[in-house]
Amino acid sequence: MLNFDFYNPTNILFGEGQIASLSKLIPADARVLLVYGGGSIKQNGVYGEVQAALAGHTVTEFAGIEPNPSYETLMRAIAQVKAEKIDFLLAVGGGSVIDGTKFIAAGALLDDDPWTILEKHGANVSRAMPFGAILTLPATGSEMNAASVVTKKATQEKFAFMSRQVYPKFAILDPSKTYSLPVRQVGNGVVDAFAHVMEQYMTYPVGAKVQDRFAEGLLLTLIEEGPEALANPDDYSVRANVMWTATMALNGLIGAGVPQDWATHMVGHELTALYNLDHAQTLAIVMPSMLRARKEGKRDKLLQFAERVWLLTGGDEDTRIEAAITRMEEFFEQMGVKTRLGDYGLGAKDIEAVLAVLEKHRMVKLGEKRDVTLAVTRKVLEMSL
Ligand code: NZQ
Ligand code: ZN
Repeated sequence: MLNFDFYNPTNILFGEGQIASLSKLIPADARVLLVYGGGSIKQNGVYGEVQAALAGHTVTEFAGIEPNPSYETLMRAIAQVKAEKIDFLLAVGGGSVIDGTKFIAAGALLDDDPWTILEKHGANVSRAMPFGAILTLPATGSEMNAASVVTKKATQEKFAFMSRQVYPKFAILDPSKTYSLPVRQVGNGVVDAFAHVMEQYMTYPVGAKVQDRFAEGLLLTLIEEGPEALANPDDYSVRANVMWTATMALNGLIGAGVPQDWATHMVGHELTALYNLDHAQTLAIVMPSMLRARKEGKRDKLLQFAERVWLLTGGDEDTRIEAAITRMEEFFEQMGVKTRLGDYGLGAKDIEAVLAVLEKHRMVKLGEKRDVTLAVTRKVLEMSL
């Protein structure tokens, strides 16, 4: 019997031209800090539209949130929030900018060192500043979830936190603002969204038919529209479908009441922290081997995935499962995201370092059955060489 709480307070405004709605969404007397990344929003017109929409507001800026946002940079933003008595944050960018803004929102109101938020994975967050998001990169789902991932450069630690206090008040998703994405980020986004669905779907059956069918629909849409986004970058309908899929992939809906895995993500975060790979690159490396190594525990769902997502029905079970995993791997490669450690210049010696930090971070019993020990992870990474 399924049994769950579902909560998601983010107000979504989706479609071309929606940035103009900003003025109604932010209180007129707010002191707003506009938070963004390395400047892509100045090239694709987003910055100009935001400035126009907020002409009547008091707005200052914090630029320079990097991909895989760092604690060090975010602490400078928190200092600015305090110095300028900011009371509303506006994140404009990809997952890194939105995640960073969540950390600023919680960290600015915490009496302790904000890094403790990551160490405690959000358990000490009891309040946060209000903030909204304008998404420019469909991938993480951060625009409609309560998660954030922050890296401490000094110690090469990449940790996640979650708190109901850090749902965006609103998120604006204008698919036409994703036309300017570099090919690498289009591929990364589709692979990340695919992996998010898999982490919640590819476990074992619990009779959650809505979550399963919804997850399969999201995977099918990514398989159909991902390559189209590469081939026809200015197609609004394609971009809109990719964008909405990525949001739905990690806003809690398909994960409600079902077992969840996340072992691929935990190992992937360590690969990014140590070797600076893009988040999606780490997922493309780890996920296929993770499924192969854990085939027995996931057998029923792998067969369902083979049949409903890849339409594979012939041959014996093991052949179907292997074919489905291979198809997934080929899809990641088709999206331009390489699937082997060697593709990124990493080899056997680098595996030891990953295992050492996983142990240090107590990531030694991962997965929906807590059976992904360091020995399993070693096997997974060796299979990904
Ligand atoms: O910094 P700017 O100049 O804006 O450029 C960015 C950045 O270089 C660029 N970009 C974004 N939108 C663009 C654009 N370039 C041209 N046109 C546009 N419209 O893309 C680059 C990458 O951006 P980033 O925000 O880093 O990518 P992404 O959205 O993939 O976010 C990755 C981060 O999110 C975390 C990852 O670990 C990583 O730190 N994740 C967050 C999750 C969550 N909050 O739920 C879950 C995920 O599993 C993930 O861990
Ligand atoms: Zn992810």
